[in-house]
Amino acid sequence: MLPPRKRILFVDDNPVLVRVYASVLQDESHRWEVRSATSGEQALDLMAEAPFDVVVTDLRMPQMSGTELMVKTRALYPRTSRIILSGIRDQAEIARSLGGTHQFIPKPVELETLRDALGRVCSLDNFLMDENLKTLVGRFDALPSFPALYLEVMNELGDPEPSIVRIAETVAQDPAMTATMLRIVNSVAFGLARRISNTLEAIQYLGTGTMRSLVLSVHIFSSFQRNVAGFSMDQFERHALRCARLARALMQSQGADDAAADDAYLAGMLHDIGKLLLATSLPDQYRKAAAHAVAHGVPLGVAETEVFGATHAGVGAYLLGLWGLPAVLVEAVAFHHTPSRSELRTFGPLAAVHVANVLDGEQSPPLRYLPVSELDGDYLAALKVEDQLENWRELNRTLSTQPIPSS
Ligand SMILES: [Fe+2]
Ligand SMILES: [Fe+2]
Repeated sequence: MLPPRKRILFVDDNPVLVRVYASVLQDESHRWEVRSATSGEQALDLMAEAPFDVVVTDLRMPQMSGTELMVKTRALYPRTSRIILSGIRDQAEIARSLGGTHQFIPKPVELETLRDALGRVCSLDNFLMDENLKTLVGRFDALPSFPALYLEVMNELGDPEPSIVRIAETVAQDPAMTATMLRIVNSVAFGLARRISNTLEAIQYLGTGTMRSLVLSVHIFSSFQRNVAGFSMDQFERHALRCARLARALMQSQGADDAAADDAYLAGMLHDIGKLLLATSLPDQYRKAAAHAVAHGVPLGVAETEVFGATHAGVGAYLLGLWGLPAVLVEAVAFHHTPSRSELRTFGPLAAVHVANVLDGEQSPPLRYLPVSELDGDYLAALKVEDQLENWRELNRTLSTQPIPSS
């Protein structure tokens, strides 16, 4: 049976643009039902008739702004995916608009790009169609915003001739980001010969791939409150950094290129992001889930499903997917405890993060009494890498002699 058609609503005060979007997407009518509105008020009326799966809105409109519309949509229809499509360049305004939004697409947009972005949002929706998961994510009133700075860095990297000077200047505009990044870079974890004092030197040493990962993860981690009873942010960050470092090393040991190794690094940094969301948004229930795991001797994921109806892996993947991060990252996060459930059967960021997470747990157990994650033996056998495990453990021991910083 075919999945039901997704309902997509376009909102733009320029009726010509709205017609263009709607007509181009018309050839997708077998999978999408496209409607349009020329104001926020009209959009809300249409949503009241029947809810939409995705709302794509312009930002600047005469009466109700796109930001206002997104905030109202979030309150009334938390399960609707919210995308802003706008030509504004002012980073502060973009940052403000992102609070109620899942994804920001800069205008002018190639229709192909728009089609891809919508396709990704909708297929992710099928992939993570679990109603419990959608409802759970809808309950978070403050999802971390998508970092505008990351978008700028990615734009620069997408340039045929990316300039690391311009990237460094962009990052340096955010003092809090720069401070945290230099703290991490100067930690012994990176094993640098001398102290790095600015963002340009940092990129020269680390390469743009690692920089990209740090910009994104530092932003995300710092958007959560640090003091949540029963949850150690410090321990969370160390685990993320260790997994990122090991996942990248595992990829390199398999002969992967730099881009794939960088993806594994970023996936390692973000793999448990759903835990952070659950622990800070619903702390009482999160503690209940941890207690359930201990009392019944079951993995945390099983206890989370019991308490929340979904796991931290699903929640994290859902968020990254809404932000439009590449499928390779979304899959690595979604299946980091259960890689056999993915379609992937080659050694990639998913396998690297799965192994890194378990080996890090063996080496630095989070809590002695919490059941540790286990390796998916069938998956490693299917990839024909099970005989490498001892080498990987040795690699991890070597890496572990370079300590991770504490904040
Ligand atoms: Fe996890
Ligand atoms: Fe983990």
